[in-house]
Formats: sequence, C-alpha cells, structure tokens
Amino acid sequence: MTENFDLFPAEKPSSSGPAAPEKVAAKVQELRARLNRWAHEYYVLDAPTVPDGEYDRVYQQLEALEGAYPALITPDSPTQRVIGAVLDGLAPVRHVVPMLSIHTETDTEASGAQAFDARVRKELKLAESDLPVTYVAEPKFDGLAMSLRYENGRLVQAATRGDGEVGEDVTHNIRTIRQIPLSLHNAPPVLEVRGEVYMRRADFDALNERQREKGEKTFVNPRNAAAGAVRQLDSGMAAQRPLSFFAYGLGAITPAEAGGPVFATHYEVLQALKSWGFPVAAQVRTAQGASELVAFHGEVGASRAQLPYDIDGVVYKVNRLDWQRSLGFKTREPRWAVAHKYPAQEMSTLMEDIDVQVGRTGKLTPVARLAPVFVGGVTVTNATLHNVFEIRKKGVRVGDTVIVRRAGDVIPEVVSRAPGVRPAYVPNFRMPKACPICGSEVVREKGEANHRCTGGLFCAAQRKEAILHFAQRRAMDIEGLGEKLVDQLVDGQVVKVLPDLYRLGLTALAALDRMAEKSAQNVLDALQKSKQTTLPRFLFGLGIRQVGEATAKDLARHFGGLDAIMDASEEQLLLVPDVGPIVAQSIHTFFAQPHNREVVEQLRKPAPDGCGITWEEGAPAERALQVLAGKTVVLTGTLPTLSRDEAKDMLEAAGAKVAGSVSKKTSYVVAGTEAGSKLAKAEELGVPVLDEDGMLALLKGQA
Ligand code: IVH
Repeated sequence: MTENFDLFPAEKPSSSGPAAPEKVAAKVQELRARLNRWAHEYYVLDAPTVPDGEYDRVYQQLEALEGAYPALITPDSPTQRVIGAVLDGLAPVRHVVPMLSIHTETDTEASGAQAFDARVRKELKLAESDLPVTYVAEPKFDGLAMSLRYENGRLVQAATRGDGEVGEDVTHNIRTIRQIPLSLHNAPPVLEVRGEVYMRRADFDALNERQREKGEKTFVNPRNAAAGAVRQLDSGMAAQRPLSFFAYGLGAITPAEAGGPVFATHYEVLQALKSWGFPVAAQVRTAQGASELVAFHGEVGASRAQLPYDIDGVVYKVNRLDWQRSLGFKTREPRWAVAHKYPAQEMSTLMEDIDVQVGRTGKLTPVARLAPVFVGGVTVTNATLHNVFEIRKKGVRVGDTVIVRRAGDVIPEVVSRAPGVRPAYVPNFRMPKACPICGSEVVREKGEANHRCTGGLFCAAQRKEAILHFAQRRAMDIEGLGEKLVDQLVDGQVVKVLPDLYRLGLTALAALDRMAEKSAQNVLDALQKSKQTTLPRFLFGLGIRQVGEATAKDLARHFGGLDAIMDASEEQLLLVPDVGPIVAQSIHTFFAQPHNREVVEQLRKPAPDGCGITWEEGAPAERALQVLAGKTVVLTGTLPTLSRDEAKDMLEAAGAKVAGSVSKKTSYVVAGTEAGSKLAKAEELGVPVLDEDGMLALLKGQA
C-alpha cells in the first residue's frame, strides 16, 4: 500500500466526534446508496432518473450527517471524491499483472484484419473447415491506460501504466472521476480493472476556452490534457479538468480456487465490468472472422467524427480466454489482440500565410493557410489560430512548420509549432485596424481576447447572421426566411441591409433556386405580417450584442419608446434593471453608429419611402422617471468602480439633485472610502448612508 492510502483509515473508524446512533448510520448508508445509483445513471448510463436539484439535496443531507458524525465518513462516500490532498510526488506502483501494449496492424483494413485472423487460426491450429474465430471488436480510445485496484469492493489504488511493469500512483486524482465507482457490490475480494482515462471533446473544448479566457496556455489535445490532469499532485486541480473512463479488461483478480469468478470469454468479462458499474463503450461487439472485423473497422470509422471522444483506431481481441492463454505473448504484446489505426488527427505541415476571417458575429479570426495536409481523414488547407494572443502564446509565425489537429467535425486548428528551422526573419502577426470585409474600425474590448468589426449590419460578413437573427421566430417571426434563402439573397447582392428584405418583389424571389411562385408569395406574406410587431421583438431583432430577449423587454418597459433608447446615455441605460456597464456600452455604441441609425429609420419609416414596421409605444415606466425625483443626494469619498462624475450623471438621470453639503433635507449620502466630515454629518443627522452597491440598487428601484 502506498502512502496516500493512509489518508483514509478505511476500516478503522475515526476516533473523532460523537458515536453515531445506529439510525443515523443506517440513514447515511441509505443516502450513499441512492447517490451512487443516481451518479451511475447520470455519468455511466447517460440516463438520469432524478433532477440535478434532487441529487444536490440528498448530497447536502449526507454532508450534513457526516459533518455531525465524522466517525461515519468512509473513503468511498460520494462526498469524499475530492480530498484536497497535495502530494510531494507520485509514488511508484508495481503492477502484479503487467500492463501490455498492443501490436498495431499498419496494413489496409481488409488485409490487416485478414493477416491477424490468419495468424490466430494458424497458431490455434484450426482447420479451414473449422468455424470462424469469434473476436471482440472495441474502439481504441485515445487517452491513457489505467489500472484500478479494488480490495473488498473498495477502490484502494489507481495507477498509470508507466513502463508496463511499474506505474505511478494517481489514486487521489482518479477518485475525482465520477464514472469510476469508489465501491463495488458483488465484486471479488481482489479486482483490478483495466481501462482508459480520457477527456471528452466537449470537456476539452470548454477547458481550453476557459484557459484562453484566463490567458493561460491551452492544451494540445484531449489526451495531453487528460494525462496532465491525471498526474497532478493536487486533486483539486485534477477535479477542474473533467475526465471520463472506459473499462476494457482485467488485471489481477481473486483466482477461481479462492472463490473468484470464472469467465470463459472476454465478452463475459466486459459484461461483468458493466454489471459492477463501469462504463463500457457502446460500440463494443463480437465479430465472427476477418470479414466482420473489417466491417466493424468501417462502421466505427464512419461514425468517428460524431463520437464525443477521440479514438485512434479499433482493437480486435480473441474472445475465448482459453485461446488467449494458449496464444500467449510475444515480448510485451499479446498474440491474441491487435490494433488497427485510423488516419492521424494531428499532422505537421508548412504554414504559408495568415489571413483574417470575419465571422457572422463580427469576430475576427486569424486563419492559417497551410500546405495541404491529410489529417483526421480529410485534406486540410486552412486552420484556425483563434486570436492574436493564441498566436503569440504558441509562438507560431508564417513559414513555420506547425502541427494541425482535426478531430470530429470541429474546425481544424493549429495547436503548436513543430520543431524545425524557421526562416531568418518573419515579423510577428498583427491584427488589421480595419475590417477586411467592410473597412469599419476593428476594436478589442477591455479584457477580451477577440477583435471585432464594428460594422454591424453594414458588414457583409455579418449580414447573413444579422438577417437570420432578425427573421427568427422570437424576433420578427418571418416564416420561410431560412438559411438557404438568406444565403442566396446575400450572395446574390439582392439584400444588403435589413430594409432590403421589405423591398423584395415576387419576381425577384421566384427567380431564386428552389423557389416556386407559391413559396415566394408565402415569404412575401410573412414579411407583410411581420411589420406589425412589438418594440421588444424589434429591438431584439436588431441583434445588438448583449441584448437578448429579456434585456429587450426591460429596455422597452423602462424607456417606453425607441427614441428614448436610441438617445440614452450609458448612465441612463445603467438605470435599467439588469443592465450593467458592458450591456450599456454595447447598446450605446450600436446606436452611435450612423449606419445603424439609418437602418432603424428605414425600417420604421412608413411606406412608400420606408418599410413601415410599426409597434405600439408605451409610456416610460414610472420609476424610470421618478425613482429619485425630488430627492437630494450627496456624494463623498472614493467609490470602488464609479468615478464622481459617473455617479453624479446616474443620479441626475434618475431625477435626483446632487448637492455638495449635507443638511437635514439630504435624502441620501453615498459614501466611498476616505469619506470624511460629510459622512460624520450624515450620521449625526440620521441621513441614510449608502455604499456604491446600495446606490445602484436604489437607482434600479431594487432598494
Ligand atoms: S487492451 C492486451 N483495449 O492502447 C492489451 N487497450 O497499446 C491491453 N487502448 O495504452 C490493452 N483502447 O490504454 C485495450 N479497447 C482497448 C483500448 C486499449 C485503448 C490503449 C491502452 C494502451 C494501448 C495499448
């Protein structure tokens, strides 16, 4: 046993805390069983039976009971997955049963499987007239091999493969993987489960997105991210990198003579692993002879891009365990198994240039132009570089040989610089100051990694997205104006700005691909119908960044009419419930662009000059005008985020009078740090004192 096992005095109950009544102990047992069942349904079977909130409620109940009776805490309790222990180093673990590697068949699918099948039949001395050999075919997961040791049904040790003989103890991190049971029912006294720890692509993408946001180094691929997480010394760190697990075999196990289970086939082993609660890949199946192995390779290969995780091939294993034993091993590789690879998902190639693409939301993305390279099953000539900071962090320059990754259906990306000579002088990449599509100014918001085009509706790159957004059901609800139609309208330069939609005629529409006169008329009818709308729908439809449906409604309610919104200062916008500085700035910037105002004017101007979109305007919300009408406020000291002027503007926008000295007539004093005599005076006179948060709450009518 290694040192960190001592962290859990598993069998000896802790001496601290009061002894628990039997009833409590039984309750704790019952809660754990329920939580374990739910976790298995959620993490392994992908079929939750209770809402998350219910799980949390029971989890908290268990935590509370364990808090009151620490003696009841056991290492396999669902509350004990992350223990927060930080190790000095990873302890070596000698594998009782060595962890082998698999021979990789490099031939084409058909001849590879046939060669393997022929070898197996020859070794087993099977005659041609004998039945086909039964194999188990499995995906080859692209993660890292793990051996999980259970003693008396409890997870006691998790070890990496290492050199196959000696690995490293990573129990503390593996315990954080929810798909791995901490305790087993009906398992033999000693059981070693072999399988693969990996990271799902979605988890990997989210992790890298978080790293990018924090300005930290991103991981090259899910395997590297998983390997790094597994080898963390601090399990808290590992827990932040969500890992998954598939079981595919056994290591040491209680022998049959000592009452251990008897398996005749590998397939039975996998069924047993499933029954103990381990995830086994859904694709796993038996296959008769070489032809079914070839079919499996083809089928799994075809679905590879849609799988939620990376695989680098498939594995074929002889199903009968007695045959596995007689086939035996050759050096470190079993003769009863073989791996068959798929095209690599990472390749190196020359980066010839870096272009900038403008996305449908205005985001500028640097894109690498590559010497054509076959990766992940397709020929790739472009790959994303994400943003300027990524380029700098990866240190890649035009002329470098780079590693390109394409996994699943995601956009290929440049993950790093491949070692190699670099041309003598290449300047660092810089973002253009003007949008390459429309020439509008390019900006980068504070704290953001991405550059954006400010062109908005004016920028062709953003037009399609803008039109689809405008037409969607929850905005202007223009039925029939879908992606294919918008593509044609924009590509054919028929629609350049939103108002062009309402200028469409029957002949122009009916002339488009796949547009009969009838459907063209339907689109025109839908456009006509959409003209009668509401202010929130119209506002939302404009596609102002940060303005979703809820904000659009808040804005309409607060200001009553569109003109008031268009002319509002950032301070006035900040008075709207749930509108913060970023949203206020975005709205203000949008309406500060003359071309955006022009679009709005055309849309709402009556026909025949304009499009004739109408809605009913309301009166501004009562408190929008009156929240501080007739009140006198005194500012003193330094506020944490607002400047004195900003605070003053906001107060005045809400109808308050901002005064310089405190008197009996003062309604509120807003005090920051280093507030002096004015604060003292307020306290003396009993005038309410607010901090910045208090002031903001008051302004929004929430105080
Ligand atoms: S069986 C006797 N099955 O591939 C062979 N290995 O070279 C023992 N791997 O790093 C391994 N998916 O972690 C087996 N379905 C699968 C596998 C698999 C991935 C990995 C394994 C090891 C390597 C073996």
